[in-house]
Amino acid sequence: MALGKKDIIGLDIGSKHIKAVQLKANKGSHRLERLGITTLQPELIVDGSILDSTHVVQAIKELIANTDIKAKNATLSVSGHSSVIIKRVSLPQMTEDELDEQIRFEAEQYIPFDIEDVSIDFQMLGPAEEENMMDVLIVAVKKDKINEYVSVVKEAGLTPVVVDVDAFALENIYELNYAVKEGANVALVNIGASMININILKGGISVFTRDSSVGGNLLTEALQREFTVSYANAEKLKQNEPVEGVSREDVKQTLARAYDDIISEVSRSFDYFRDTTSYENIDEIILSGGVASSSDFCNALAERAGIEVNVADPFKNIEVPESFDREYLKKVSPIVTVAVGLALRRVGDK
Ligand SMILES: Nc1ncnc2c1ncn2[C@@H]1O[C@H](COP(=O)(O)OP(=O)(O)OP(=O)(O)O)[C@@H](O)[C@H]1O
Ligand SMILES: [Mg+2]
Repeated sequence: MALGKKDIIGLDIGSKHIKAVQLKANKGSHRLERLGITTLQPELIVDGSILDSTHVVQAIKELIANTDIKAKNATLSVSGHSSVIIKRVSLPQMTEDELDEQIRFEAEQYIPFDIEDVSIDFQMLGPAEEENMMDVLIVAVKKDKINEYVSVVKEAGLTPVVVDVDAFALENIYELNYAVKEGANVALVNIGASMININILKGGISVFTRDSSVGGNLLTEALQREFTVSYANAEKLKQNEPVEGVSREDVKQTLARAYDDIISEVSRSFDYFRDTTSYENIDEIILSGGVASSSDFCNALAERAGIEVNVADPFKNIEVPESFDREYLKKVSPIVTVAVGLALRRVGDK
């Protein structure tokens, strides 16, 4: 498609940070062109809903200007169990065109939303175990959620060309940067401020996805409660910065308890995965999102889950020009992982 040749911005609108990434694709390789992050005031986006679109639009405009991004086309993403449903189903074999015509009818029985309220996409995965059947991935996203995000992006002067799902953006990162381990189950886990996205790959193919409405906000709230400090000071404490009257040791203990709550939610998803796969093990966790910046959290997760945890490196196979500060990039890598995954998308991709 003609549009596919144009530069695309990967725009990840999170409740804590908006991230913009632009890559240059050349004969199958990629180079980092632009990267920017801006921090949102709390409560502008709550539970994945944009409550204050004026300020979010403003933040996107400033981010694009400050990052010196000239491109207009943007890939964005939505997530959250209340607006995105991803289902792997077996359907009678048919051609892609036939399925395209029938998908709404087929999807209706698997989607817990009114079929009129969702936008549906699908991907054919290949023959199913049962004869004359094929496996299909159905993705249904609430139209009002898409509209909500599309309108702020348009208002900010950009052109949304693809609306993706966070879990799939993580998969893009894996495909570009990691060698598929045959037979291994790898859990891609993204923990932001208000959301956990999980996509478990078996031999590189997605077999399980789940989003939960839990994230780093739990840590901030625990610190605010425990030490009666402001949101801003709790954020400082979370990142090892000192706050008067609060001891480092007490912070560590409070955080450790709050890490447990986040880890329990991740474990719950892993349990669902095991239930649906006759108790297969997960061999590795590739962790992204702001919470992955905390090595204490990574260690706690590895210990409690009994699984090797590695922080995602979205730039492993992307050329990074000298002009970028390596140290800074390493620090923000987990935060921009979804945005890099979105920047890898091209119009017409499935
Ligand atoms: N060093 C750190 N230790 C612990 N938490 C951290 C650290 N650095 C950032 N965070 C937390 O990570 C979260 C932000 O991560 P991220 O940018 O991935 O979220 P988001 O994408 O904006 O949110 P959403 O969950 O709505 O998608 C915040 O809760 C922030 O406090
Ligand atoms: Mg996020």
